[in-house]
Amino acid sequence: MDIAVIGSNMVDLITYIDKMPKEGETLEAPSFELGCGGKGANQAVAAGKLGSKVMMLTKVGDDIFGGNTIQNLESFGIDTTFACKVPGTPSGVAPIFVDPQSKNRILIVKGANQHLLPAEIDKAEMQLKKCSVIVLQLEIPLETIYYAIDFGVKHQIPVILNPAPASKELDFDYVCKCDFFMPNESELEILTGMPVETEEQVRKAASYLIEKGVKNVIVTMGSRGVLWATKDNAQRIDAYRVDAIDTTGAGDAFIGCFTHYYVQTKDILHSIQMATGFAALSVTKRGTQISYPTKDELTQFVTEKGLRAVSQ
Ligand code: RIB
Repeated sequence: MDIAVIGSNMVDLITYIDKMPKEGETLEAPSFELGCGGKGANQAVAAGKLGSKVMMLTKVGDDIFGGNTIQNLESFGIDTTFACKVPGTPSGVAPIFVDPQSKNRILIVKGANQHLLPAEIDKAEMQLKKCSVIVLQLEIPLETIYYAIDFGVKHQIPVILNPAPASKELDFDYVCKCDFFMPNESELEILTGMPVETEEQVRKAASYLIEKGVKNVIVTMGSRGVLWATKDNAQRIDAYRVDAIDTTGAGDAFIGCFTHYYVQTKDILHSIQMATGFAALSVTKRGTQISYPTKDELTQFVTEKGLRAVSQ
């Protein structure tokens, strides 16, 4: 197995709005779409679509959505041996509002995801030990995240931590044990308490994490590109200019694609450049997983436009 994603799945309830209603107001919205989402599942699907062998540890609800979520993962070739239903518990859901500027607002109700506990990692130990990388986000209990990080350290498996949604309770001693820490700007701001308005400020906040002991900090900055900081260097990789329709799940697209190329090549810069293309294509379509391109589409896009420039 190439990749183990230990994380969440959600049912995305996406409403495309003209504007948010005020308190007490009812507004008509132009359209609605139901989709498979959740940061963990999105990242697993992105890597799976590109051809990685992915296993996912996740918990679904004992409701009308649970079976469909597992089937959806399987349709992308993801190993769901450890994707289990929690009796008497609803699936995680995410009401999402996307405005005409393609910006989103997301609520999550974790449901069954709350039940993904450290014991599940023990159950999957034999299979997990064979993985080349472990990918984590913060939509499951923190105790499970910490247990997974320790598992990775013990078995010398690189760990990628996407601290989303940001939690101030995240213990930095564990963050420092991860090989890759991959926040977006707002998560970086919440986690460090430092401003991130300008690129200079993002660089300072990333260096603060590096000084604390994090090995690789990769900050996704939307149209401003990506900052990759290590103790020796900090580089910015440009973004592609595209007409964005819906940015939901673009961060997950980036992480899933990065992980795929990192496992294949161990070339971090190239993996960031490919992930930049994958995420850019994802925002040109509606939805989360459903907006992710195929490998052929990604290859064609990157070949036509060229890999994005890197600056110090
Ligand atoms: O990152 C996007 C995802 O956040 C959505 O798919 C939603 O389910 C929430 O988890």
